[in-house]
Amino acid sequence: MGKFDLSHRVVLAPLTRQKSYHNVPQPHAILYYSQRTSQGSLLIAEATGVSDTAQGYPDTPGIWTKEQVEAWKPIVDAVHAKGGVFFCQIWHVGRVSNSESLNKYGILYCHMVEPRMQKVGEMQETPHSLVPMRKAFKGTFIVAGGYDREDGNKALAENRADLVAYGRHFLANPDLPKRFELNAPLNKYNRQTFYISDPVIGYTDYPFLETSV
Ligand SMILES: Cc1cc2nc3c(=O)[nH]c(=O)nc-3n(C[C@H](O)[C@H](O)[C@H](O)COP(=O)(O)O)c2cc1C
Repeated sequence: MGKFDLSHRVVLAPLTRQKSYHNVPQPHAILYYSQRTSQGSLLIAEATGVSDTAQGYPDTPGIWTKEQVEAWKPIVDAVHAKGGVFFCQIWHVGRVSNSESLNKYGILYCHMVEPRMQKVGEMQETPHSLVPMRKAFKGTFIVAGGYDREDGNKALAENRADLVAYGRHFLANPDLPKRFELNAPLNKYNRQTFYISDPVIGYTDYPFLETSV
């Protein structure tokens, strides 16, 4: 992807976890992101506010003060130390964009969440809904939204994406690329702990393959 040499196509999707107390990234994020890093992997950080007016939820990280920037550094260093490529997802309410303007500005990647279901609670898929975007956008195209190992592979095989981002599965499986490689069973995610403030529970205590079998 651009100048970045990725070793596999399993991306950590951006996941808001609401553990950056008072909008400052915390040391527990070092372990969390580092657990989810493998050599040559792409990680997209949780949505990160660019100003104090950008905030929509409490305890989400920011990157507009010196303190926040300094607090990100050990987290980024830990990801780099394990050979990961780390992008910050900058966020502001009201952001708009489209593929033509993305091309014009030479944007490296475009990450889109597929509306997989036509109606809430109905398991009727809307297949290939991002294909027009994929065709219009010249850079690296990353899809997300309800993918598992099998249909992620299918999207790649059919050239509907360059990379596949995983949210809930990666949240619950720090070694997701390894598990996909081995076709190993996955830990189940616990929705109850997605957004709790705890710095460990449901955050860095999901077991790796070695300890879960
Ligand atoms: C706990 C949680 C937090 C999320 N936070 C963000 C976020 O900060 N930015 C974003 O673009 N998407 C966010 N998403 C969407 C995910 O990046 C992903 O697109 C979505 O979970 C669908 O992928 P999945 O089916 O593999 O989980 C979040 C999803 C979950 C479950």
